[in-house]
Amino acid sequence: MRGVAVLGSTGSIGVSTLAVLKRHPDRFRLVAITAGSNADRLAQQQAEWRPAFASLANGNGNGGTAGRAALLEAATHPDVDIVVNAVVGFAGLEATLAALWAGKRVALANKESLVTGGPLVERARLEGGGELVPVDSEHSAVLQCLSHAAAPCSRIILTASGGPFRDWEADRIATATVEQALCHPTWRMGSKISIDSATLANKALEVIEGHYLFGLPYDAIDVVVHPQSIVHGFVEFADGSVLAQLGYPTMELPILYALTHPERLGDAGVRRFDPVAAASLTFEPVRHEVFRAFALGLAAGRQGGLAPTAFNAANEVAVARFLANQLAFGRIAEIIETVLARFPGGPVSDLGDVQEADAWARAVAESLI
Ligand SMILES: NC(=O)c1ccc[n+]([C@@H]2O[C@H](COP(=O)([O-])OP(=O)(O)OC[C@H]3O[C@@H](n4cnc5c(N)ncnc54)[C@H](OP(=O)(O)O)[C@@H]3O)[C@@H](O)[C@H]2O)c1
Repeated sequence: MRGVAVLGSTGSIGVSTLAVLKRHPDRFRLVAITAGSNADRLAQQQAEWRPAFASLANGNGNGGTAGRAALLEAATHPDVDIVVNAVVGFAGLEATLAALWAGKRVALANKESLVTGGPLVERARLEGGGELVPVDSEHSAVLQCLSHAAAPCSRIILTASGGPFRDWEADRIATATVEQALCHPTWRMGSKISIDSATLANKALEVIEGHYLFGLPYDAIDVVVHPQSIVHGFVEFADGSVLAQLGYPTMELPILYALTHPERLGDAGVRRFDPVAAASLTFEPVRHEVFRAFALGLAAGRQGGLAPTAFNAANEVAVARFLANQLAFGRIAEIIETVLARFPGGPVSDLGDVQEADAWARAVAESLI
């Protein structure tokens, strides 16, 4: 019986995580939940699950704490073995660090933790004795392929659905509406990651995440567009052999695997794969010149240091403004590009550096809008 904290329990991944836990009451006990500001849903979850700790990060919660302290308290709760970090954005970083320093397993959906604080996360994992297991389906696919391998891999290939604008002309994409951008062809997700999937910034975040998770150089991480979202990731070995992980799009499998890795539980309760029903699986290159946010994110990753933090912050600001109908879709990449061009760079030495770079990039992005 393992104690679980779900940070961001009211969101898309949070709700899916609770569905997974519900199917395995003999294996997991929900100890702590946190939400941002959805007090009603948090109250419903609290009534149903009766966790020892529940709190709103953006308000006064039942745990008697507020703001970041709520996240940190849940992440380090003594009865918690596994922290599912399903918070969206930079707000999730500190909880990832605290959980790893406290020796917990972190089932990481919050990719922004690794993008903005990769070296700090790695240090916390090594020195705190915690474990980091990805929830992202692409990284879960890679981990599942690697878990059966006796040799290190030479390359990974992450798949991307291509988002709602995969085959649109650049001019049409530039003026896409919020409704169009949120209409993802294969996944139902929170609004921020849905927009990131439409710009393909999400795939750049995932490449940076993969760089830190698997210790691979950027030249060893490729991305391919795969509109059916059936193959989640490929792993290539030195001899040229390639393994892939497949399944219909559902986050419940990668969430369950992040809880049980390297074990597998009997039945995840998901639709069984049928290759005939899946029919044709197709693959295309990413249109780098059209999806500029993707190219900018990769460049920031390769630059390293605090550049991915600036990329992430500029993207978070631009996406929030787009969702509020205050920015055209086409300007998201433009804002990111200008922020990165002005960013002086620097190394990631401690959390203060990262917070400073994040605040700087947010301020510049806001001034541009
Ligand atoms: N959704 C997917 O299928 C998917 C797949 C792979 C990876 N991910 C990653 O998983 C993370 C969560 O994505 P999501 O789609 O589940 O997002 P979401 O539906 O927007 O949920 C985000 C959760 O974080 C909470 N939250 C928001 N701002 C917060 C803050 N400042 N402090 C504390 N909590 C805060 C929200 O609370 P309230 O709603 O109560 O405000 C909500 O519970 C993201 O990093 C995303 O990239 C998602």
